[in-house]
Amino acid sequence: MAPLYTASAPSRRTRARTSSFSSNALLSSLSTTSSATAIAAPAPKPAPTMVSIKTLSLLDFKNAATRPRFLQEMRDSLMEIGTFYIRDHGIAGEITDDAMKTVQDYFALPLEEKKKMLIGNSRHFRGYKLIGEEFTNSQVDHREQLQFGPEQQPLESFQPGQSLNYEGLQGPNQWPRSTLELLPSFQPVILDFMQRLEQLSQTLMEAVALSLGLDQDFFRTMFGPDPYYRLKCAKYPSVPHEKEAKIGCGAHKDTGFLTLLLQDMVGGLQGQDPVTGQWMDTRPIPESFIVTMGESVERLTGGLYHATVHRVLNNTSGYDRYSIPFFFDPALSQTIPHSIQDLNQSKVLDFEEALENAMTKMTTDEKKGETEVEGWSNGAHIFETVHRCHPEVYARWYDKEL
Ligand SMILES: [Fe+2]
Repeated sequence: MAPLYTASAPSRRTRARTSSFSSNALLSSLSTTSSATAIAAPAPKPAPTMVSIKTLSLLDFKNAATRPRFLQEMRDSLMEIGTFYIRDHGIAGEITDDAMKTVQDYFALPLEEKKKMLIGNSRHFRGYKLIGEEFTNSQVDHREQLQFGPEQQPLESFQPGQSLNYEGLQGPNQWPRSTLELLPSFQPVILDFMQRLEQLSQTLMEAVALSLGLDQDFFRTMFGPDPYYRLKCAKYPSVPHEKEAKIGCGAHKDTGFLTLLLQDMVGGLQGQDPVTGQWMDTRPIPESFIVTMGESVERLTGGLYHATVHRVLNNTSGYDRYSIPFFFDPALSQTIPHSIQDLNQSKVLDFEEALENAMTKMTTDEKKGETEVEGWSNGAHIFETVHRCHPEVYARWYDKEL
């Protein structure tokens, strides 16, 4: 299908930031074309301008000559919006096509078949959810969904009411035999896709670390040997225009660290410009993923990097919309510091210094920040999120009087 949208490579722009991390150094490093600079005092504040979402090539990160430019553009994107597109990411088009087709084939199964893997069957919050049963910001979402996570053995010692709730998240996905007979490629395609997305996420978090002037493996260390992730496959059915408009998915920030999103060409996803508050279409770009930071990154960086508020409009396109977000987070048992000790925001705002710092650190084995002991439980944080989205799973498996 022909691309509906081709992202340009916008130049840096002057924006009237409301963030407490605006600084003269930052503003002076931005565009010098602002009319405000040519007007005698008192100069009017420049009107906030709409920012656009950049498209970055992962090849530029892997090439030493272009890596600085990549990191600068990533940093600009995450400071301005919290979102960018990534292309040349190393996951072949045949792989993403297979994943999308597998998800479409699953949702096309009879309802009775899909109900064999209802999410309520799974203590680990894995499985199928009927349309109209998920809430975002207390508003019902108009989508079906299917959720997976790392394929693991459940923790046998888990006891509801006695164990830490998040320990119940560890476990296998649901694979009903009849579903595998109907869709033989279902299980291998989903498991393979998650493995590839995990690798891509690790690479992108290395880039995020470098863009902040941190060690390349800063987040790999923080995430631990068994990062926790969730793959959420969603179908947004098209509804008639005359039907009362319902939101596909309510406005929210993702709660964790990094989200990769594969979407089809239907569109409907919007991100909110944190400066102007305007909604902007996050249009589908073939062979690319949308990369978004979550609230954990926003919190860790003291708001320097944004977690983008986003939503999905009701789908009246005449075509069903399919999307596959992948949420990448630290291991459930990890304690996450309240802030990054090494992160000197004033230095990060001076990108040249931050970059020099990052490039120097790439050649060392320093692992600063590991000694931080105070922080929040990543497992508890994730459990709070999934519990809020799927209260029926909590009611069945966790809310026990002992
Ligand atoms: Fe989201």
